[in-house]
Amino acid sequence: MSSAPIVAPYPATRLRRLRRTPALRALTTETSLSADNLIWPIFVTEIAGGEGEIPSMPGVDRLTLDGAKRAAETAMRLNIPAICIFPHSDPDLKTEGCERAWDPENIGNKAIRAIKEVAPDLAVMTDIALDPYNANGHDGLVRDGVILNDETVEALVRMALVQAESGADILGPSDMMDGRIGALRAALETNSHKDVAILSYAAKYASGFYGPFRDAVGASGRLVGDKKTYQINPANREEAVRCVARDLSEGADMVMVKPGMPYLDICREVKDRFAAPTYAYQVSGEYAMLEGAIRNGWLSRDVVLESLLAFRRAGCDGVLTYYAPQIAEKLA
Ligand code: PBG
Repeated sequence: MSSAPIVAPYPATRLRRLRRTPALRALTTETSLSADNLIWPIFVTEIAGGEGEIPSMPGVDRLTLDGAKRAAETAMRLNIPAICIFPHSDPDLKTEGCERAWDPENIGNKAIRAIKEVAPDLAVMTDIALDPYNANGHDGLVRDGVILNDETVEALVRMALVQAESGADILGPSDMMDGRIGALRAALETNSHKDVAILSYAAKYASGFYGPFRDAVGASGRLVGDKKTYQINPANREEAVRCVARDLSEGADMVMVKPGMPYLDICREVKDRFAAPTYAYQVSGEYAMLEGAIRNGWLSRDVVLESLLAFRRAGCDGVLTYYAPQIAEKLA
């Protein structure tokens, strides 16, 4: 009988060697996630009875101003460096002119000041877009069904200056109008807010994954048409790269890719090409997908950490995620 071996005797490389024990796996871990990498998006309501759980985002609540203060304290305790405020504003006060967007007393600006009162060291990020205050749900001003780019940019500048005045550390323009970063940067420079940072939603796609967010801020059912004339076509990669290049050249300090999980290729490319602080937004629909499956027992809760680690592996410096407090607690 022949005794010829049935497998080759010595593989040159045994990759399993370094996976054998927890210590060896720890030594060879390439990326890490810590609370430092998290930005926590919260929803703050000004509507009586508007607080409480968002049905399409189980586990995420709309907060009152007091609730926002408590969230800020939680962020501080968990070493989460930044919170991002999204307003759930009174539907009766939404107008075609979006005038409330630059009202110092709108709920977003009140929340900035309330949070700064209890947690002055916590970085406060805002959203700059007209949708919370727009009667037709768009991020820009609309005339005869057309989004007006330059008029919108003027409105965004007003909105931004009031947010900066209220104490925001990081402005997050999410509107996707052309020229907004340059206009915002110039206005901040000339209005004694030169140290306010801009985290541009630079590569923001026209995505179905924002659905639960629009429920959360009360914009669902209000939006006339879609956002495809300003957000990026999900089929496109080069266009996202050009958006990021443009926003950095206009004065963005940090850039974002949004949504996150379906766009990890864009995250990697943006980080490699520009070597700028790069963030991903794990958006509401991604949260709903994971949380829905977890609550049904179809996935283990471990997938949350896995999903966030993926952003780090893809080159992101940080992630905006509704899981921020939960994961920071787990990592603590
Ligand atoms: C709107 C804005 C959106 C999100 C953040 N800012 C929605 C949209 O563009 O329609 C989505 C965030 C999420 O889905 O979690 N300016």
